[in-house]
Amino acid sequence: MKTALTGIKPTNIPHLGNYLGAIRPALALSESYRTAYFIADYHALTTVRSPTDLRRFVYDVAATWLACGLDPDKTLFYRQSDVVEVFELTWILSCLLATGQLERGHAYKDALAKGESPNAGIFNYPVLMAADILLYDTDLVPVGRDQKQHLELCRDVALRFNHLYGETLVVPDALIGDAPLVPGTDGTKMSKSKGNSIPLFESSKTLKKAVMSIATTSEPLEAPKDPEGSTVVALYRQVAGDEAAQVLEAKLRAGGYGWGHAKQDLLEALEAELGPKRERFHALRKDEALLDRLLAQGAEKAREKARATMDRVRRAIGIRG
Ligand code: TYM
Repeated sequence: MKTALTGIKPTNIPHLGNYLGAIRPALALSESYRTAYFIADYHALTTVRSPTDLRRFVYDVAATWLACGLDPDKTLFYRQSDVVEVFELTWILSCLLATGQLERGHAYKDALAKGESPNAGIFNYPVLMAADILLYDTDLVPVGRDQKQHLELCRDVALRFNHLYGETLVVPDALIGDAPLVPGTDGTKMSKSKGNSIPLFESSKTLKKAVMSIATTSEPLEAPKDPEGSTVVALYRQVAGDEAAQVLEAKLRAGGYGWGHAKQDLLEALEAELGPKRERFHALRKDEALLDRLLAQGAEKAREKARATMDRVRRAIGIRG
């Protein structure tokens, strides 16, 4: 059986973009793949500076995975920081990567373009991510479109390693759906840092507020409306599917159906998808002892796998036997 693996950074409670871009497609693989889904807490350290927040966000992400349907008996479910072998592999991979390749990293380049002075963690982020993936002999990585470049780098470095040292690492494929990145309420990429997120597990009232704040054009109710480029329609398509989206588009084009109605339809689709998960999330989130226990069990199994890979890697590079 092939292995699918993906991670979520604990920088807040995951949002609708994380859910539609990674969590939902990842969980859909659990019947046909051996799955490994984790909390990328060391990646969060590039931005999270408060230990209290980091601890809280790790529980938030753990409860999110479980509330969305991850079954820890079937999926290897763990916290990145519990498997220190990942840093050993990070170093080994970084010795095979040209700095120029990391300088082309989108996140690093964007930070420089904004005049910021990005930390070295942001620069090295893709190497740690490649190690996350390669440590577990991953075949498939379900991620959002924004992670494409990271997956390319991961494949590159795995191929380079195998070329130099002989077939040792599994070269993974990215699983990126056809859907564009999930837009936020302002129409740009939904992102935890931009304040444009649609929350997954806030109250119905807060969800409604976020949906109603989505920017739209302002034709009169009677006028036919162009669904092209509309954030409401894009979100609706990703939540409810193509067929339902075509019906919504036809209603907009016909006129007599306002953006307020479309938002109401989007809200209903979101409630149907998220309502039951919201209740599970809040029940799980309260039980930190349970989350600790599940992550500790996962850590054991993850370490076992990581040690086996590192034995192979060390032998291949000449560090051991
Ligand atoms: P993070 O937490 O930033 O994002 C988690 C996942 O959510 C996807 N995503 C989106 N998808 C569609 N539309 C959006 N607006 C949107 N925003 C976020 C991301 O593509 C991602 O799949 N670097 C990873 C964490 C990571 C990882 C790994 C993933 C660390 N190591 C190894 C896979 C394999 C990240 O971006 O997390």
